[in-house]
Amino acid sequence: SRNRVIFSGIQPTGIPHLGNYLGALREWVRLQNDADPMTKCIYSIVDLHALTVPQEATQLRQWRKESFAILLAIGLDPSRSMLFYQSDVSAHAELMWILSTVASMGYLSRMTQWKSKLQLPEDTDLENDNAKSKLRLGLFSYPVLQAADILVHRATHVPVGEDQKQHIEFTRYTANSFNHLFGNLFPSPEGLISPARRVMSLKDPIHKMSKSETDQKSRILLTDSEKDVQTKIKSALTDSEPGISYDPARRPGISNLIEILSHLEGPNGRSCEEIASELQSTSIKALKDRVAATINAHIQPIRDRYLEIVSRENGYLEDIAEQGAVKARQNANETMKAVRFTMGL
Ligand code: ADP
Ligand code: NA
Repeated sequence: SRNRVIFSGIQPTGIPHLGNYLGALREWVRLQNDADPMTKCIYSIVDLHALTVPQEATQLRQWRKESFAILLAIGLDPSRSMLFYQSDVSAHAELMWILSTVASMGYLSRMTQWKSKLQLPEDTDLENDNAKSKLRLGLFSYPVLQAADILVHRATHVPVGEDQKQHIEFTRYTANSFNHLFGNLFPSPEGLISPARRVMSLKDPIHKMSKSETDQKSRILLTDSEKDVQTKIKSALTDSEPGISYDPARRPGISNLIEILSHLEGPNGRSCEEIASELQSTSIKALKDRVAATINAHIQPIRDRYLEIVSRENGYLEDIAEQGAVKARQNANETMKAVRFTMGL
């Protein structure tokens, strides 16, 4: 069987939140630490994706650096994982162009993320004039760039949260279309959906925790102080029923807190049902205190390492990023050589 190549990316759009961590970043570290010598782990700050919505240059530059520092702070190790900025490896953008010559417009127009980023209803179609005038080509076609990110490294496994499932399916479809026309160049990548499929917003627990929600108290950031975490958990939306029970449909706020606890405890920890039955006759305050303390125990070492990394002299992160870019370019260029040849370029 083929060697495993693991690829994933995160946008540099601010400090990652607990949903990014449990849904993706923590899995990246686990996969790195479990990798055998034949497995490649490739993780990217996907800065070209950030450009699909308006960005202020100074802010974006800052966020790129912070995101890179976070990758190191959570335990990714540049000697075991390729860590790089997407824009440093131009083969990503080049393969995107090539794939866009086989990618289906119909498929892209049925995908939902451009609609949610423009805050358009899910049933909006492209014939709608309002949708058409707001939509930029890059936002519409960014799943093609994601497919290129994955395929340019011939990745076999892509660890992501559940919200990215649709994009992995698009990548497989596009890889198959390419292979059908030009020969078997790309493996069909498999999504590795984290057990923490969807961490919900603390303020609106029927929607996922997200960087785009305006209320800052809706999410825990990996660099939040102990006090910030306590304040945010304390103000999390719950309900007025007495006692604790696990019932995501009827009690989404309480159930989200229980899920966060269970996910933080990890695969050997308690299930949501076990946590709920142990805390059954306690109060919401007791549950919240437990959740805040557990989150703090997990993110405090990350925050401390992060602060240490960003306080280092200029050039430290840049050097690590350049070393990662050299390896990623080499890996991607091997694929591009084969792609160009098979297409007659
Ligand atoms: P965001 O969705 O906040 O803009 P990204 O698009 O950069 O973040 O996603 C980075 C990773 O985090 C992706 O793998 C995505 O699936 C995962 N992710 C994002 N939000 C959540 C969430 N609330 N629960 C679980 N995983 C999430
Ligand atoms: Na996302």
